[in-house]
Amino acid sequence: MNSLTKHLQKSIEMIEKNNLHNDLWRLGFHLMPPTGWLNDPNGLCYFKGEYHIFFQYSPFNVNGELKFWGHYKSKDLINWQYLGVPLLPDQPFDCHGVYSGSALVEDDKMYLYYTGNVKNFGEDYDYINNGRGSNTILAISDGNIVNSKKCLLTNEDYPKNLTCHVRDPKVWKENDAYYMVLGARTKDDKGIILLYKSLDKINWDFLNTIETNTPFGYMWECPDLFTLKNETIVIISPQGVEEEGYKYNNIYQSGYYILNGDYKTSNYTLNNFVELDRGFDFYAPQTFLDDKNRRILIGWLGLPDIEALYTNKTIEKGWQHCLTIPRVLDIINNKLYQKPIDELKNLRNKQIEINNNTLYNIECCFELIIENILQHITITLENDTIIQFKDNLFTLKFNNTDLGGGRKDRNVEINNCNKIHMFVDYSSIEIFINDGEEVFSTRFYPKNKNISLKINNINSKNTLYYLNSFSIK
Ligand code: FRU
Repeated sequence: MNSLTKHLQKSIEMIEKNNLHNDLWRLGFHLMPPTGWLNDPNGLCYFKGEYHIFFQYSPFNVNGELKFWGHYKSKDLINWQYLGVPLLPDQPFDCHGVYSGSALVEDDKMYLYYTGNVKNFGEDYDYINNGRGSNTILAISDGNIVNSKKCLLTNEDYPKNLTCHVRDPKVWKENDAYYMVLGARTKDDKGIILLYKSLDKINWDFLNTIETNTPFGYMWECPDLFTLKNETIVIISPQGVEEEGYKYNNIYQSGYYILNGDYKTSNYTLNNFVELDRGFDFYAPQTFLDDKNRRILIGWLGLPDIEALYTNKTIEKGWQHCLTIPRVLDIINNKLYQKPIDELKNLRNKQIEINNNTLYNIECCFELIIENILQHITITLENDTIIQFKDNLFTLKFNNTDLGGGRKDRNVEINNCNKIHMFVDYSSIEIFINDGEEVFSTRFYPKNKNISLKINNINSKNTLYYLNSFSIK
């Protein structure tokens, strides 16, 4: 460990100790930064009987900037232990940010692949075609500390038609080889994926690109690729996609393609792009396989560059953003479903009797499940936030700017809404429709720890309601 690393680590420990947040928007069962800013989930893995989640972390600035990797681990996906900051921008190849990446578990070691961000100063750089370095780095960890860091690829090594924007390695093993996807922006502003292969985890050969025929955004961030029930799924977070009716309403998107054919050659096609989440706050998801062979997805319950559109009121409390709950992926009729992970049932504290058309007041940390919905249903929180299914349209809408921090409405067209499963956690809401066929994630900022809740269900004869308050340690 060099003295810069030591110094940075000490400063972070101090700032974390002096900034314990006890405000009412602190999350109960979502992972949030100890202080400052959090963005993408990184290095998700199941390692020696425990779940590990790393995250993009800016402890010194509530609005981001210099990125580190923070680290949490858990045996049960409910109780998390914070383990500090194992990856710091302390080398020439990552000195302006330890950017996003993934974990490969092998031989009792974690192989952490990430992007070392380097920014040059002093010249008239545009930071697209020049002035920026995107290095692919391998850090090896025993699960606690990182023992070595090695730069594997620099911009010189990537295909020539690319800008400096190449990042977010996702690595996996298949038979006896390793594969890596990287997100990239070409010189003519097209988002694409680079596919690499290695036999030793260190030396990587460029194989192929994965891209659409016509451009879909200028940059693809945080790619992921895996098979699920024999389908190949490609997840990307594209930037520069134009809004189309109810689609692509956020500043940047996150979604998936089903890939047909062989992505290791050019002999493949990508089906339609489908958004993973229809709410205001979702970006840069990553998946991993656990010991039960579940393909688990976790996203950033937030988005970059939203300042002109809406806000997060926790900024005034010195912290910003959180991760989504873990969601188990499934494929049904060629559509990806995201199911809240079963372990969350262990948070159930007390079941509260609930009826149609009645006003309730409840601590803002609960789960609401409504089954056998037949027609038009409206759930109202704080006499303001409306969650509604009517005439084949599912809507999440804030009327009051204060409560939604400027968020207005998001919608999705859907044939039926039989089931709604909602998780509310002081300042976040995640809504799963029809067991994860569609999901809406959002932040909101109630004035009290308790909020009001009302359900108006037009045809309620067979409807079942379950309201569970959650107990948080
Ligand atoms: C996505 C992203 C990644 C990058 C990281 C930097 O939110 O922009 O592409 O690696 O965040 O924090």
